Amino acid sequence: FATASSADASTEHGVKKFGVVGAGQMGIGIAQVATSVVGLPVVLVDTSAERLEKQIAFMGSVLAKDVAKGRMTEEQRAAALDRIVPATSLSALAECDFVVEAVSEDPAIKLELFRQLDGVLAAPAPGAVGPILASNTSSIPLTRIAGSVSAARATSVIGMHFMNPVPVMELVEVIPALQTADEVLLRTEALARAMGKTTARSADAPGFIANRLLMPMLNEAIMCLGEGIATPEDIDTVMRLGMRHPMGPLKLADFIGLDTCLAIMRVLYNEFGDPKFRPAPLLVRYVEAGWLGKKAGRGFYQY
Ligand code: CAA
Repeated sequence: FATASSADASTEHGVKKFGVVGAGQMGIGIAQVATSVVGLPVVLVDTSAERLEKQIAFMGSVLAKDVAKGRMTEEQRAAALDRIVPATSLSALAECDFVVEAVSEDPAIKLELFRQLDGVLAAPAPGAVGPILASNTSSIPLTRIAGSVSAARATSVIGMHFMNPVPVMELVEVIPALQTADEVLLRTEALARAMGKTTARSADAPGFIANRLLMPMLNEAIMCLGEGIATPEDIDTVMRLGMRHPMGPLKLADFIGLDTCLAIMRVLYNEFGDPKFRPAPLLVRYVEAGWLGKKAGRGFYQY
């Protein structure tokens, strides 16, 4: 594993047609930076035509704010939206040379999707890499994901973990699987840089860097709430004003989605087998109640 933190900046990403699978809050943000910052044509696939329409309209409203603030012209906004091709079938990705998967954080769904994508994308030329198949997973081992495709394709699989909201957050965590070719790592980092992001490399360890550090903190805040130590507002105020976090941990958990937080805690707990990662019982109850945070209108706060 290459631990050098500064990536080789001379490699180019070489991407001509970009694909995103999943038009949720992460997928739409990734599609937005690919079209509006890099200028790439983007095929955006989701099973729901209704969600595609709603999310592309949302992207249009985010870009309209950029126009209002003088960061882009109306023509650039229209061109960025024109470069998005919505589709409900994976076959629309056939000509893409870089695809990012951003579907729900469910190992069964992701592994099945990778198996299907293996059949849809162009076959890698003998001895060569690409098309690159990246996962935005926040905690599923990339080596397992790469193991679900053919050995020839596995060298082109990598983790490309964006932070939410994607257009605003500067970090992309890049996680090579054991099978990932060096060229795939360098080209992925080059694409992230072209998107205006800074990359950090992590080995394929549970939770990588971001969620190994973030999730136990959010989980502990939920433990504090469950034990009746303080109100949600006071817990969040401590971290916002005491530690200058932009959002308190309970608000942030709501914002990420409590189902996603629980899925990540379960990966940490199962993979490490260490009780320090046990999910807070209150987090499990909220997910069972369907109180999944901002997207559901209710989590630790009402929206
Ligand atoms: N899409 C695009 N832009 C968005 C946005 C979205 N969904 N949400 C907010 N923004 C933009 C706003 O338009 C605004 O832009 P301008 O400065 O150009 O006006 C900017 O972000 C700031 O927004 P606000 O002024 O409305 O609110 P804020 O100052 O509270 O900032 C925030 C919002 C950027 C989300 C900030 O609260 C923050 O940084 N929160 C922490 C976010 C965080 O920790 N993200 C990581 C989560 S973990 C993760 O994603 C990985 C994982 O695996 C779980």
